[in-house]
Amino acid sequence: MSQLTWKTQELTVGELSRRSGVPASALRFYEREGLIHSRRTTGNQRRYTRHTLRRVAFVRASQRVGMPLAQIREVLSLFPDDHVLTKDDWARISECWRKDLNERIEQLENIRDNLTECIGCGCLSISKCALANPYDRYGEQGAGPHRMLKS
Ligand code: FES
Repeated sequence: MSQLTWKTQELTVGELSRRSGVPASALRFYEREGLIHSRRTTGNQRRYTRHTLRRVAFVRASQRVGMPLAQIREVLSLFPDDHVLTKDDWARISECWRKDLNERIEQLENIRDNLTECIGCGCLSISKCALANPYDRYGEQGAGPHRMLKS
C-alpha cells in the first residue's frame, strides 16, 4: 500500500473523535484498555485505520446495553486487530449477550422489588439488608464463612 493510500485511509485521534462523537480522552482510554489500536507516526502521533470507527461504535453500543469493558475486550480479542466488524458479528455477539442481559434485568428487578425492605440505614447486614444480600446468596450456601473462604 502506498504512503498516500495509508494517509487517506488513516484518521488522527481528532478525526476519529469528530466522526465517532466520542471524546479524544475516551478514545485514548479505549486504546489503553486494548479495545482499539493505533500506529504511531515518527512524531509519536496516533493514527487509526478507518475500520476503527466501527470498533468504537461497537464499544459504545456494547456499553449502552450495560456490558462491562472486560467483557467487550474479551469479545474483541477474538478478532484480529484489522478485522472490520460486520453487522453479522454484532448480531452473533448480541445474541450471546442476551442471556447475560436477561439475568441482569432479573437481578435488578429483584433488587427493585426488595428495595422497600432496605431502610437505607447503612448496616448492609447480610441477614437483613436486601441490598447487601439481594438474593440471599449466602443463605443458600448454608452456615459457615463462605465469603472468607472464597478468595
Ligand atoms: S442498609 Fe440497613 S437494611 Fe439496608
